[in-house]
Amino acid sequence: MAKIVAGVATSHVPAIGVAIDQGKTDDPYWKPLFAGFEPSRQWIADLKPDVAIVVYNDHATAFSMEVIPTFALGCAADYAPADEGWGARPVPVVKGHPELAWHIAQSVILDEFDLTIVNKMEVDHGLTVPLSLMFGQPDAWPCPVIPLAVNVVQYPPPTGNRCLNLGRAIRRAVQSFPRDLKVVVFGTGGMSHQLQAQRAGLINPEFDNRFLDLLVSDPEAAAAIPHVEYLREAGSEGIELVMWLVMRGALGGPVRQRHRHYHVPASNTAVGHLVLECERE
Ligand code: DHB
Ligand code: FE
Repeated sequence: MAKIVAGVATSHVPAIGVAIDQGKTDDPYWKPLFAGFEPSRQWIADLKPDVAIVVYNDHATAFSMEVIPTFALGCAADYAPADEGWGARPVPVVKGHPELAWHIAQSVILDEFDLTIVNKMEVDHGLTVPLSLMFGQPDAWPCPVIPLAVNVVQYPPPTGNRCLNLGRAIRRAVQSFPRDLKVVVFGTGGMSHQLQAQRAGLINPEFDNRFLDLLVSDPEAAAAIPHVEYLREAGSEGIELVMWLVMRGALGGPVRQRHRHYHVPASNTAVGHLVLECERE
């Protein structure tokens, strides 16, 4: 049977993608940030997952104000990197896993989580930057990817609790797929950041580190954080952190923290990163 063995949480700042694409990862500004991902890159190269489910948000790239799905699951065979205004990133096309994705759609929808099924979609920095951080600059991504786009752009986004429970439903779905596949789940976005208006540049290391602690050891408490607290403490875009709860729910019970990294700043953002392994199958 398929199983979810581990989770990765990471911010998805577009400037990180630019630094990788332009060969600036050794620049003094960027070096400490990328150094914190080196153990994770070795870890995932050793793990060799068969599939990655990447929970991310679309930043008005594939979707717009015209259609706003709360949860959109990619069931396509491939996803082209999007042009977000400066040309598409020079990264490989993302290959999907339609068979597992359709199985997840069927299982999760019958489990009463009404997902939007997406058969054609371009993917933006929210999905491609985490792949670059974990896999570097290969000619082809090392495993197929199932994108799960969460609306955190237009209010109301889903609650943290809904996200945690969706993750649990995804775990049940994967565990009922009758093929031996090793699956990792990425939760992306965050940490504290605000890109707009009077509080632009807001960063809150106390909130961020408490969130990292809770996500590892008390996910129910992290899931109880209300939207207004993310807004107040982590800034308007800090709400992206609810996506990490989908990942955490998908890991089931207790987890081992294999790696943790926190770095400020990257662009206007605090960058957080966790590698978590499931303690139980
Ligand atoms: C920026 C954009 C993001 O989507 C994000 O999550 C963090 C930072 C930015 O434009 O700097
Ligand atoms: Fe974002």
